[in-house]
Amino acid sequence: MNRITVVVPEVISRIAPEIYGHFSEHIGGVFYGGLRVGKDSDIPNIKGFRADAVEMLRKLRPPVLRWPGGCFAETYAWRDGIGDVRPVRKNWWYPHDGRLETNEVGTHEFIDLCEAIGAKPYLAVNVTSATPMDARDWMDYCLSPRGSTTLSLEREKNGRAEPFDIPYWGVGNENWGGGGNMTADFYASEYRRFATVMDNVSRAPKPDGRGVTLIAGGANGTDYAWTRGLSSSLAASGAPAGGMSFHYYTGTKYSCFDMSRDAWNSMIDRAAGIEEAVIRHYAIIRGYGLDRKMPRPLVIDEWGCWYPGGSGPSAGANLFEQQSTVRDAVITALTLNIFNRHADKIMMANVAQICNNLHCMLLIDGGKCVATPSYHVFDMYKEHQGANSLRVLTDCDYGARLSVSASEKDGGRILLTVANLSPETDAEARLDLLGVGGYGVESAYVLCSGDPADCNTAEHPDRVSPRKAEAAAGKPLFFPKASVTAVTLRTE
Ligand code: AHR
Repeated sequence: MNRITVVVPEVISRIAPEIYGHFSEHIGGVFYGGLRVGKDSDIPNIKGFRADAVEMLRKLRPPVLRWPGGCFAETYAWRDGIGDVRPVRKNWWYPHDGRLETNEVGTHEFIDLCEAIGAKPYLAVNVTSATPMDARDWMDYCLSPRGSTTLSLEREKNGRAEPFDIPYWGVGNENWGGGGNMTADFYASEYRRFATVMDNVSRAPKPDGRGVTLIAGGANGTDYAWTRGLSSSLAASGAPAGGMSFHYYTGTKYSCFDMSRDAWNSMIDRAAGIEEAVIRHYAIIRGYGLDRKMPRPLVIDEWGCWYPGGSGPSAGANLFEQQSTVRDAVITALTLNIFNRHADKIMMANVAQICNNLHCMLLIDGGKCVATPSYHVFDMYKEHQGANSLRVLTDCDYGARLSVSASEKDGGRILLTVANLSPETDAEARLDLLGVGGYGVESAYVLCSGDPADCNTAEHPDRVSPRKAEAAAGKPLFFPKASVTAVTLRTE
């Protein structure tokens, strides 16, 4: 029989809540036609954002929300998004035709959304087509104390006297691609320029010195040469850096409903590959001694499954919008288990994206806001946030494939989360907790469905959602094929 062993005395690290972070870009239906309906809409809203979506997101306890892109950030002029007059611009994603950017959602509106859902903001600064001075001014506008600089007075005139609390600032996005097609060396020089200015202006008048964490734009997936180039340049300079990102997407070839053996294995194997990427990027950064500057350096600020477009409720009208099936829930669980097990290396992660897009939490379907299966996994896993990640040993029988993580908080409450990665075989596992006298089961939930291609729609919003599961101390745990299980244990 499969065996899961939780080594309770062996704490890997506290799980930064930010590992459960989200991403929202001005692309497709994320904001317009999605979260944003406007203050005058008939749809109940909170400061212009759909009240149902806000409530659902708030329930996840989202720690952080990244904005305004993505690629969009690299042609974004922050001044377009403040004040009464909002210029209409081309959007990075629709250079020739398609949707224009109305700038209805700008800095103040984004902060309204963050405050409504309870997330900390993470802004991505334009490095490709703006200057360090633009970044400086945006920071001045957002962070300067009330009544100090001219830009802080402009902020006050626009409705916000007190500074915004924006702890995370990203320096560029995908600068190896859409963000300027730069080489690692070129980007590193740009980073050093921007970061020096941004760090200087961000020093808040607080006794603890710096007010913000700057995040360097990192590699595409497994491009370790980028991480080496950037790390070597950062190590050779005094440029401030609080974290280094990389992006990791799974897919593109198979349709989101393709559950053939090839598609299933390819998606699961590629998703599982993020573990090696975490280990290797981290090792390179440590190798350059940068862990002294950034002890938990990794920021995986875009991750998720990426299928060919058109499967979402808008049938292709919203760029990159895709349906989300049981397999996406399993991949969410697999990924979050990996992040938990490597909590000593990861400062933040942001699933892409929050609504009507790639690996999303919510889909607006015929006017209704529907939670995806992946949303439910974030909900089942939320008690991992801020808990201590525990060492877990997993010994699987031939053919079985379980992904596991465990964490402890509140002095003896353990959350064990397990994904059965097999679409064909149910699994049973014996559970051992080392280093404790015994344990009881407080609760157990499982998310699965008759068909791994099942998804949630306006007509069937709860087709794939968690239900209570049977679990008892001392008895084997049961994991249906293609499922996600969360068991809360209380140690004695
Ligand atoms: O998430 C969609 C896009 O994917 C982002 O804008 C970009 O950073 C990535 O390539």
